[in-house]
Amino acid sequence: MNLGKLRQALTARELFNLIQDELDHVEKKLTAESVAPLDTVTAIGQYLHSSGGKRLRPALLLLSAKFAGASFGPDSTAIQLGAVVELIHAATLVHDDVIDAAETRRGRPSTNVKWGNHTCVLAGDWLYMQAFQIALRERNFQILDLLIGLTQMMVEGELLQLERIGCIDVSEADCMELVHRKTAGLFSVCARLGALSAQSDTQLREKLGEYAWNLGMAFQLIDDMLDFTAREKTLGKPVGGDLREGKVTLPLVYALECASPAERRLVETILEQRNYDEVPFSRILALLEKHHGIERVKDRAQAFTDKARQIIGEFPETPYQRALMTVTDLVTDRDH
Ligand code: IPE
Ligand code: IPE
Ligand code: MG
Ligand code: MG
Repeated sequence: MNLGKLRQALTARELFNLIQDELDHVEKKLTAESVAPLDTVTAIGQYLHSSGGKRLRPALLLLSAKFAGASFGPDSTAIQLGAVVELIHAATLVHDDVIDAAETRRGRPSTNVKWGNHTCVLAGDWLYMQAFQIALRERNFQILDLLIGLTQMMVEGELLQLERIGCIDVSEADCMELVHRKTAGLFSVCARLGALSAQSDTQLREKLGEYAWNLGMAFQLIDDMLDFTAREKTLGKPVGGDLREGKVTLPLVYALECASPAERRLVETILEQRNYDEVPFSRILALLEKHHGIERVKDRAQAFTDKARQIIGEFPETPYQRALMTVTDLVTDRDH
């Protein structure tokens, strides 16, 4: 870490302190807005919200709003939109766990395990619509434009991923497209909504959007890496899950570029069998180590956060500017 960076860095606590009151309001809003006329839907929403989650998307939205000069009260637009993005995130997780036949989310049985696929598809729909209903109250077409475009893009991403399940011939560009659709798009929209809530000009909004897009790319690449390197207890979901689900993510794409035919067959076996019975997970970790798959993904993630820092570094130093700088370290240095 160089001295310039040291001067700018905030601790994670200092960063969250800057938006703690607003995050508390978002939390209250989330609880209040997750109440449905049907108990099951309410239970699913509350189960997810109460099981943790980093609340990174509302945090990014609030920091961007403050950076852009928004003023705050309990009912401000940025608070409403903070709840909106977390509800959209929750809806994608409920649907995603159905699609991936997941068993664990946030260290607990996932909602599909507890309530079953049929109920979760409908509950996910309800959460999406609840998010849009809150957004609609702002009576602002720009907000709806952003959210509708984003949701369609994320759904298309999940569809694309489904088409590639079990496929070993995945390129770096394929991976990047999924990372963009699944995660970076939402991060970018969070920052742009924050700027919109501050009624900032288009130029600032787009700069913040570009910053957050780079942050989101790094976040998802680190997620793909943690799927191989983390411990299940810390991650809150099983490690090795992506490959077991038939997904070839970037660490493996890089390793496969240099793999021998025999090593490639190991991956094919797991993709066919969808378990680590014949080829143990440790064998895949060794393959990644040998061909520097993890290292290369870390470097790619670092390049995205460098870009994010460069964009924010062009603005004058203020507490919120430093906070946005610090977020980039939290994304690359995280263990869950
Ligand atoms: C999970 O996102 C889905 C991905 C984009 C990898 P997070 O890691 O932000 O999930 P929570 O909200 O903290 O559980
Ligand atoms: C998470 O995608 C859902 C979206 C971002 C749409 P993944 O399937 O890759 O992530 P996890 O591993 O379930 O959190
Ligand atoms: Mg999943
Ligand atoms: Mg998925």
